Amino acid sequence: MDTPEQAGSTSPFGSYSPVNADTPATPPSVLFDNDLNILLRNFALNDQYILVTGGLGFIGSHTTLELLKANYNVIVIDDLSNSFDTVFHRVKDLASKYHDENGTCMPSLKIHSHDYKDMNAMRTLLEQYKLPSLWGSPKSKIAGVVHFAAHKAVEESIKKPLKYYTNNVSGLIDFVGILGEFGIKTFIFSSSATVYGTLANRGVPLKEELCVHREGLLKDENGLEKLVESGCTGITNPYGRTKWMCEAILADLAFSDPEWTIVALRYFNPIGCDPSGLLGEDPKGIPTNLLPVVVKVMTGQYEELKMFGTDWDTEDGTAIRDFIHVTDLARGHIAALSTANEGRLRENFRSFNLGTGRGSSVLEVVKAMENVSGKPIARKAVGRRAGDVGSCVAVAARSNDELQWATEKTLTDACADICNFLRVSAVTA
Ligand code: UD1
Repeated sequence: MDTPEQAGSTSPFGSYSPVNADTPATPPSVLFDNDLNILLRNFALNDQYILVTGGLGFIGSHTTLELLKANYNVIVIDDLSNSFDTVFHRVKDLASKYHDENGTCMPSLKIHSHDYKDMNAMRTLLEQYKLPSLWGSPKSKIAGVVHFAAHKAVEESIKKPLKYYTNNVSGLIDFVGILGEFGIKTFIFSSSATVYGTLANRGVPLKEELCVHREGLLKDENGLEKLVESGCTGITNPYGRTKWMCEAILADLAFSDPEWTIVALRYFNPIGCDPSGLLGEDPKGIPTNLLPVVVKVMTGQYEELKMFGTDWDTEDGTAIRDFIHVTDLARGHIAALSTANEGRLRENFRSFNLGTGRGSSVLEVVKAMENVSGKPIARKAVGRRAGDVGSCVAVAARSNDELQWATEKTLTDACADICNFLRVSAVTA
């Protein structure tokens, strides 16, 4: 991860170059230079904020925590529609503990519990962070936005498409409109591997260049370049389409105005939780994702796990996904923010896969959880779920190279952390 400390060591302040070649150079103090870098970086971050919409949700809360650990001041907006206010206090306590242990200062954490679509509330909030600017573009203490607030239940999106288009798409248009008015133009968007649609079924490596908003060149496995037209292939549900549409809107916005710097992060399958066991995946509705269902079986709320499809073209017949630990995913946002704010992004709209680059089957996940928890997980093979794909695994090369980010945690880590979350939840219930 590109922490401020690490980022500081590559800053211009870290390199020593004597002004006059005739004057004997004083050898630089590595310790002093590094300390100075950290000081300067922290000073710069002191009065800057990152705005996180949906900051109390599963991925949002983990990202808020990692931002605080990396010394960013954070303003959370969350309407609590799919999260709990206790999460706020837990994030704050975990971040404080981290800074206490490291002898560093806890950055500021603020919460605004309203809908991100409430433009009056947003305007009032953004006014508070406005910086004086007599001429030129408006300026703000908000140095970037990470936008998670969105509906994400696939089944529900099929039944209530307008709810999804209103919240995820119309909401985004108004939101970036008002951010632009206040001169806040660094934007990290929560996208999904769902934008690859049925390309995932074709056995082609899922590279970002396969699914673009402007035509471009793609290098195939043999190093041959071919032209890729803009567009997507076979998105199976309205939720997925909202993610694609939002990416397209943001790409057009970035093209129209070079002041914007926009990153779309395409998540593969986030699982696990903070090792403390204090944050976790706790959806308010009926869970549909694999791990939350496995958890329901482990806690006795469900009799068994229905494994959707055991006839896929995979080694054990169950579907393969790229399961990524949510802490690794959260750190991907920090890498994206520093890349964007340090001007290292190759174009002012760029998409990145956030995945491990390795696939695990549904059965492997269940067995990993059985091994870690020491308990059998009842399961039954049933037919394929409508809209599922057999395999969906990231090519993570672009994020590794350009964001200087890579996953560190394993499937076993994720299972162990979930077991911890269950133990903590049982004690605090
Ligand atoms: C799903 C969404 C995707 C979204 C992602 C967010 C669908 C079709 N896709 O991806 O758009 O971005 O969640 O996390 O819902 N499984 C079972 N039994 C269960 C639940 C799941 O066997 O009770 C299987 C699924 O069939 C699938 C795998 O586990 O093969 C992963 O499923 P899930 O966690 O729902 O994620 P995706 O389907 O990959």
